Amino acid sequence: MLDLRDLDIPVLGAPMAGGPSTPALAAAVSEAGGLGFLAAGYRTARQVADDIEALRAATSAPYGVNLFVVGRYEPDAAAIDAYCRTLRAEADRLGAELGPPRWDDDDWEAKLDLVLDARPDVVSFTFGCPSAEVLRRLAEVGVLTAVTVTTAQEARVAADRGAASLAVQGPEAGGHRGTWDLDADPDPAPLLDLLAAVTDAVDLPVAAGGGVASAAEVSSVLDRGAVAAQVGTAYLLADEAGTNPVHRAALTDPAFAATRVTRAYTGRWAHGLANRFMAEHAEAPAGYPQLHHVTSPLRRAAVAAGDPQVAHMWAGTRHADARPLPAAEITRLLAP
Ligand SMILES: Cc1cc2nc3c(=O)[nH]c(=O)nc-3n(C[C@H](O)[C@H](O)[C@H](O)COP(=O)(O)O)c2cc1C
Repeated sequence: MLDLRDLDIPVLGAPMAGGPSTPALAAAVSEAGGLGFLAAGYRTARQVADDIEALRAATSAPYGVNLFVVGRYEPDAAAIDAYCRTLRAEADRLGAELGPPRWDDDDWEAKLDLVLDARPDVVSFTFGCPSAEVLRRLAEVGVLTAVTVTTAQEARVAADRGAASLAVQGPEAGGHRGTWDLDADPDPAPLLDLLAAVTDAVDLPVAAGGGVASAAEVSSVLDRGAVAAQVGTAYLLADEAGTNPVHRAALTDPAFAATRVTRAYTGRWAHGLANRFMAEHAEAPAGYPQLHHVTSPLRRAAVAAGDPQVAHMWAGTRHADARPLPAAEITRLLAP
C-alpha cells in the first residue's frame, strides 16, 4: 500500500471536479514525483473508467481517485422555490432553463465498484465519510483511503471508522468545503490551526490543503505535522488542466482580485472568485446537490456566453499565484 511519506515530492495534485482535473494533469503531477488525482465527482462511472485508462496509458506512477460522499438532504422546499424564482431573470437573459432540484448520490455504488476493481493507489473522499465497511474493503484490496475533514471532530469520526489517512482542508482552499454537515457555517479556523487540532486529535498521516501555493508553504504544513500538502488552485492554469476559458481568463484579470465563500451556485459552501452572481445571491439556502442541478444549465450557458459575472470560478486565497506552466514544473516549484 502506498505511504504518502514515500512521495519524491510531498504534494498531492488536488482533485478538481467540473473540468480542471484531467488524466493528463494527474499523470504529469505523478510523473514529476507528486501524486496526481482524478476527480470522479459529476462524472459517470464509465467516464471515470475511461479517465483511469487514459491516465494509465500515460504513466505507471501512483495516482489517486476522489469520490463524493453525498448524504441524503431534504432542503426546505419553500426556500428552494423562492430561491429559484430569484434566478429566473438571469436564466432568461442567458437563454437557459433552470434544472430540476433533484437529489442524487453521484453514482456512488458504481464508482465504488469501479475503484474496488481498478485499485488506484489512493481513494479520497469529500463531503462525508464512507462506512467502516467501505473503508475496510478498500484497505483489503491494497488501496490507501483518505477522508477529507474540516474539523477535529470529523477527523475523530474518520479515524474511528478506519480511514487510513486524512485530507485536512482549511478555509483558504478553493472549491467546495468538504464539510460533512450542510447546515453548519464553514469553520473559519485557518489551515495551520486546524492542522494542529487534527494532529492532536488523531494519529493518522495527514495531507493538508488550503492556500498552499509555494515551496515555503509546503514546508510549513510539513513542519506542523502533515506528511504532504494538497494543492489545487496553483494548478488551475497548468497547461494540462481542463479549466474553462472564462475561469482561466478571470484568474489573471485584476477585476477578480477577491474571493468569496458562497452557497449561491450549489447549495453547499464553496470558495471562488467573487462576482456579481455571488453578491446578488448571498442569501441562497442550503440544498446540495439540489441547487447544483438547478443552476447547472445556467452556469453552462454563462461559460458559453463568456460571462464571468455568472459562471462559477472556484479558487482559493492564493489564486494570484497560479501560473500558466506545465504541471510538472508547478510540482517541482512546490518541492520543499
Ligand atoms: C476548481 C476546484 C475544484 C475542486 N474539486 C474538488 C473535488 O472534486 N473533490 C475534492 O475533494 N476537492 C475538490 N477541491 C478542493 C481541493 O481538493 C483542495 O482542498 C483545495 O484545492 C486546496 O486548496 P487550494 O485550492 O488553496 O490549493 C476543488 C478545488 C478547486 C479549486
